[in-house]
Amino acid sequence: MKALLLSSYNDLQVEEMQAPIPGGDELLIRVAACGICGSDVHGYDGSSGRRIPPIVMGHEAAGTVEAVGPDVHGFAPGDRVTFDSTVYCGTCDFCGKGMINLCNDRQVIGVSCGEYRRAGAFAEFLTVPARIAYHLPDDLSFEEAAMLEAVSVALHGVAVSEMTGGETVLVIGAGMIGLLLLQAARVAGSSRVYVADVDETRLKLARELGADQVIHGSGAALVEEMLRLTEGRGVDLVLEAVGREETISAGIDCVRKGGTVTLVGNISPQIALPLQKVVSRQIRLQGSCASAGEYPQAMDLIAKRKIKVAPLITAVAPLSDGPAWFNRLHSREPNLMKVVLDPRNSGFQG
Ligand SMILES: NC(=O)c1ccc[n+]([C@@H]2O[C@H](COP(=O)([O-])OP(=O)(O)OC[C@H]3O[C@@H](n4cnc5c(N)ncnc54)[C@H](O)[C@@H]3O)[C@@H](O)[C@H]2O)c1
Ligand SMILES: [Zn+2]
Ligand SMILES: [Zn+2]
Repeated sequence: MKALLLSSYNDLQVEEMQAPIPGGDELLIRVAACGICGSDVHGYDGSSGRRIPPIVMGHEAAGTVEAVGPDVHGFAPGDRVTFDSTVYCGTCDFCGKGMINLCNDRQVIGVSCGEYRRAGAFAEFLTVPARIAYHLPDDLSFEEAAMLEAVSVALHGVAVSEMTGGETVLVIGAGMIGLLLLQAARVAGSSRVYVADVDETRLKLARELGADQVIHGSGAALVEEMLRLTEGRGVDLVLEAVGREETISAGIDCVRKGGTVTLVGNISPQIALPLQKVVSRQIRLQGSCASAGEYPQAMDLIAKRKIKVAPLITAVAPLSDGPAWFNRLHSREPNLMKVVLDPRNSGFQG
């Protein structure tokens, strides 16, 4: 099979590789779409340490079942499927409580770190345990399915925020995740969603995707504008999707007393915490990691067009264009959102 192999940092090539053979509880999937994730781009140059070469990356994927292992039930060759990026053990305490994102033996498809290596979906075929796979509804395209991981991340961020409806919400950062958090907050019944970013083109998208009001700015300017718009009270909930000290600190200043700041962004490994503000204004800081069972809800919301993903897909390209797209994403070319690779059209003749 053809696969996009990271043979050393910053060196991606389409190579001929041995196709995997499904184990007892595994599906062999012929990949039809696989999104390039920000974490793949950060892994590609070695900066995150989570894609130790050699590795085939790719965890935001969908395709058709080619073959099933002898112990698999409920899936058959020809089925259209997608799968969770997290491989959870299913037996630890956390898995038992449905917190599969916190599994003690959690692995991620297309990741190689110190502890494990799992081949991913930038390839014609990959194998995954059947327990992480889902049947894809007919009205969901493979490209849309490649957005499911990001949509699930956003739905999880809203779920851990425990919205009950009627909340005013500020989303900080209108990138891929922020634009999905915006839509997830609307689905959860927010009364008003504000979106802040420093990039005007991203705010244009936020408006198109349902933001009630956008704020061009960060730091003190954002806080001032947010307090002006809420008559000094602040919003009920901040969904932070940048992950820098400046934006988290602004989020803490923009939330009302007793409100919640949900931390989804995590670019900075460490930030200074305005401790006394958090304590004396009784603010809840809530972390949110990946997703825990939100895939079916994500499929349903995309299929019903309650969450729109098509405007976030920049390009669908053959696997052979993968190295060039990684370079463009890595050099932070403006206006790029999700790039989806389709290994069925591997770009080679004969
Ligand atoms: N918790 C999770 O499970 C999870 C999952 C995926 C991504 N993430 C994190 O979420 C964050 C966002 O990811 P993404 O894919 O949307 O990234 P992205 O690059 O698409 O978007 C980031 C956005 O933040 C904006 N921004 C940058 N600096 C800003 C500032 N000072 N003020 C306001 N806006 C600013 C950028 O203009 C951009 O629109 C990242 O930190 C990523 O690591 C977390
Ligand atoms: Zn991802
Ligand atoms: Zn587990």
